[in-house]
Amino acid sequence: MAFIEARGLGKAFSKRRQITALSDLNVCVEKNEFVSIIGPSGCGKSTFLLMAAGLEKATKGEILFKGRKILGPDPERAIVFQEYLLFPWKTVRKNIEFGPKVRGKDSEEQKRISYHLMDLVGLKAFENQYPHELSGGMKQRVAIARALANNPSLLLMDEPFGALDALTREMMQAELLNIWQQAKCTVLFVTHSISEAIYLSDRVLIMSRRPGKIIADIPVGLPRPRTRETLFLPEFKTIEKDLRQMVWKEVSEANP
Ligand SMILES: Nc1ncnc2c1ncn2[C@@H]1O[C@H](COP(=O)(O)OP(=O)(O)OP(=O)(O)O)[C@@H](O)[C@H]1O
Ligand SMILES: [Mg+2]
Repeated sequence: MAFIEARGLGKAFSKRRQITALSDLNVCVEKNEFVSIIGPSGCGKSTFLLMAAGLEKATKGEILFKGRKILGPDPERAIVFQEYLLFPWKTVRKNIEFGPKVRGKDSEEQKRISYHLMDLVGLKAFENQYPHELSGGMKQRVAIARALANNPSLLLMDEPFGALDALTREMMQAELLNIWQQAKCTVLFVTHSISEAIYLSDRVLIMSRRPGKIIADIPVGLPRPRTRETLFLPEFKTIEKDLRQMVWKEVSEANP
């Protein structure tokens, strides 16, 4: 049984005019896999992630989590967006403790979880700061820690590093791999960066232009743990070239 499985998944939005975001999307993701999704803007990547989070409903087909149809949100499936979406009135620690608190954990347990996660994402010295006192990279680390606070088995990430400068982004990528290895969860990661997708992933899925479906499923056999040296391996360059050609073809056909 796949950890996540989409079968003939479709999504049409129909407020003012009918927009089919996804049509007949089929994919399986296994437990503990790190899978990235790349595709032209507007092809339905965020829509797919929101459906996996249980925040949007399918209008066709179905999406299953551990063999069960996803019917709504669940703390086991956490989502991290490009915008940090932190509570501005709560400190770093209180932002992280929010999920465990809602789940009824007592204050000792909330603290144990938040200290462990602040340590993991390197923010222990900032526990009493408010989001506006943090840099973009730090805010995103809080957002990741907050998502991990519910001990999710599935982490859904929608362009989480899109707003960061190049150097911070590289550091965050390395940190995410570290966290993924320690937290032992499955990650579905949407990005527009081909090299980021290869560097992080076990597999890269390419989506077609809207209505989106998976048009290629590329395994990344590069050794782990990945380091910056990985970027210079000939195998990395080969996968990067192949992927870039496929994505360019799809994007250029979308914008002739
Ligand atoms: N709530 C909504 N109501 C109506 N249409 C929507 C809604 N959400 C998304 N769409 C439409 O669905 C399509 C897919 O949107 P989505 O945000 O999933 O794309 P995306 O692949 O994430 O794009 P990007 O790479 O730009 O983030 C778009 O045409 C968008 O306009
Ligand atoms: Mg999107």
